[in-house]
Amino acid sequence: MKIDEKVYRTIWPIAGAVSPKNDAVFSVGIIDQTMLPHRLEIKELGKLDEMIIAIKTMQVRGAPLIGASAAYGMALAVQENASDSHIEKSAKALLQSRPTAVNLRWAVKRMQSILAKLPPQIRNHAAWREAALICDEDVQINHAIGQHGLSLIQAAYTQNTKKTFNILTHCNAGWLATVDWGTALAPIYAAHDAGMNIHVWVDETRPRNQGASLTAWELGKHGVPHTVISDNAGGHLMQHGQVDMVIVGADRVTSTGDVCNKIGTYLKALAAFDNQVPFYAAVPSPSIDWAIKDGLNDIEIEIRDANEVNYMTGLASDGTIHSVRVTPTHSHSLNPAFDVTPARLVTGIITERGVTTPEKLKQLFE
Ligand code: MRU
Repeated sequence: MKIDEKVYRTIWPIAGAVSPKNDAVFSVGIIDQTMLPHRLEIKELGKLDEMIIAIKTMQVRGAPLIGASAAYGMALAVQENASDSHIEKSAKALLQSRPTAVNLRWAVKRMQSILAKLPPQIRNHAAWREAALICDEDVQINHAIGQHGLSLIQAAYTQNTKKTFNILTHCNAGWLATVDWGTALAPIYAAHDAGMNIHVWVDETRPRNQGASLTAWELGKHGVPHTVISDNAGGHLMQHGQVDMVIVGADRVTSTGDVCNKIGTYLKALAAFDNQVPFYAAVPSPSIDWAIKDGLNDIEIEIRDANEVNYMTGLASDGTIHSVRVTPTHSHSLNPAFDVTPARLVTGIITERGVTTPEKLKQLFE
């Protein structure tokens, strides 16, 4: 996608100096998402440890981008030391960095299985190539999700007598959460680019405000009309006929179609169900955990630092970025980062293979 006419992906390799063995030494470029929407800052990561910090502190975030970052993390690790034991240790460290999005495990395992077949001398080249392949595949998958989601919106749009088609989304499942295009936002970009009159309700998504800061920013950069709403407003808007469709992303989906996504998604699904608003999850196949069936009991929900609830960060009038406390110092806070929407509340799942119901998800990939 473009930022001010310049094409970006969210992650890319940077070739640097040439090593004594005549190999280029690579680092990894990222957009530091903790600085958005106020500043566009690019960071260059040269070591596995730096990548792990970037994932933990959410400089990179969003399930598909966490997967791509883990793949490049493995490449950085192999560049440091291509031995079996170092690869094993690095994989373990990456797996512990964020537990809920299954894409991280998927990418680490894929890198490990490629590297295990090769002698250490040629692992470095193979690791960078595989990480780049994972990124290219992510872009293709999300583009396909966009096209399938576009057909879905087109079908609903022609039935819609109102001029504007209102889509509500939660958190950020746009291009910033992936390598490019996004998942939930890919159909929205496709519909907007096809000339449809789309308007997006953007949930702010406390506590880290990925909706208010990231989704609003990227929609704005692409010229998609949108309005940021407080997390509590969606149900009210649905009751008054102002939401035609909900599209969210996913961090992990069970084989039975339970959808784990950013905390608060479940409440939107309940409100959508009560108001007969179609509720879709846009899900690339690496976000599906085929090994599990019960989203409520089988998915580890990341509990993040309570200070993400206690503080809010924003731009002060002097142009500096500040955090301010919003809770009393004597109060305890709890910060579960994700929740699970049971399949029964999900109208459909938009994948790279097409749109299906949760019950038929498995069939689509057989
Ligand atoms: O904690 P985050 O910002 O990594 O959570 C992101 C989400 O929950 C997204 O909705 C999800 O990863 C889908 S990304 C295409």
